[in-house]
Amino acid sequence: MKPILPVGIAGIGSYVPEGRLTNADLEKMVDTSDEWILQRTGIRERRIARQDEIASTMGIEAARRALEDARMAPDEIDMVLCSTVTPDQPFPATCCAIAHGLGMNRAGGFDIEAACSGFVYGIQIGASFVASRAARNVLLVGTEKLSTIVDYKDRNTCVLFGDGAGAVVLTSLERAGRGEYLGGHMGMEGGAEDILGVPGGGSRHPASHETVEKRMHYMHMGGTRVFRFAVATMAEQIELAMKPYGYQQLGLVVPHQVNQRIIEAAAERVGLPIEKFFVNIDRYGNTSSASVAIALDEAYRAGRLEKGKIQCMVAFGAGMAWGHSLVRW
Ligand code: UT7
Repeated sequence: MKPILPVGIAGIGSYVPEGRLTNADLEKMVDTSDEWILQRTGIRERRIARQDEIASTMGIEAARRALEDARMAPDEIDMVLCSTVTPDQPFPATCCAIAHGLGMNRAGGFDIEAACSGFVYGIQIGASFVASRAARNVLLVGTEKLSTIVDYKDRNTCVLFGDGAGAVVLTSLERAGRGEYLGGHMGMEGGAEDILGVPGGGSRHPASHETVEKRMHYMHMGGTRVFRFAVATMAEQIELAMKPYGYQQLGLVVPHQVNQRIIEAAAERVGLPIEKFFVNIDRYGNTSSASVAIALDEAYRAGRLEKGKIQCMVAFGAGMAWGHSLVRW
């Protein structure tokens, strides 16, 4: 058997739409306040895509930036993975539109549906393809137009979510020259459809007048239950990930941008200072599949990925699914 090939991250990119939805805007839409949102979530504003911007078009922009950063031409990519819960349409997969938009004509690919954990799952999936030599260069995109499934009449959810996209290019460590993939973990516990999800429009409750009238095509969430699960899972995943290395090797934790309080509670639980966590939730809210990807790109471009140190990406969400991916920069 051929040896497993070491894998690296060759390029990182992201894209967020220009439109902003501030807490003051939300005060005019539902019974909420800037003070409540900021105190309970840490969010000040989120980006909202234009009508003509969809999951694939935002993903294409993020991918272009990642490819440019990797100094790689689109036709060198042989696998496109797209993580999203807001695909352009139920099928075909959104990765097809991304590949087409980038002018690729020989790449295979598929979509990953693991909600907020999708990008962290995607790094492990993409790295496995490269390591096994099933693909040479993998483009992974996390993209969401959550504003299309958020119910702007439900104050429990509408203050939390935003739109955006992020991408990475995975290739052999030799070619990438940085971002060595060290491994990761993927887990899930099913039977949680009532905790977090979109109940309508699938085979359980196909689209009908009734599902539309009951607003079943919007996201439904039991926020407090997600909160408890999120704190425990984020802490467990960081501990599991860093156990073989020790915290002295840790560069940054790049967590799913779920809630400032959840991130702070997890930091306290694992005994790490909050400065070790990259947080940009104040500007984007929770962007699900795109959240870790956008945070990784911002940390990278801000020079926060310390050379030689381990960057720990950690996520959890609907499913309930969770995971982490480790990269030595
Ligand atoms: O990627 C995973 C996706 N999930 C998430 O991102 C959600 C994770 N969960 C959370 O971030 C938090 O649980 C929330 C921010 C959703 C809620 O914060 P909380 O501190 O857990 O508040 P709570 O659910 O205990 O609600 C407290 C009160 C309730 O009123 P009553 O029943 O005590 O009278 C809510 O109705 O706050 C009320 N409330 C609001 N008030 C003003 C809920 N949303 C709002 C709002 N503005 N937007």
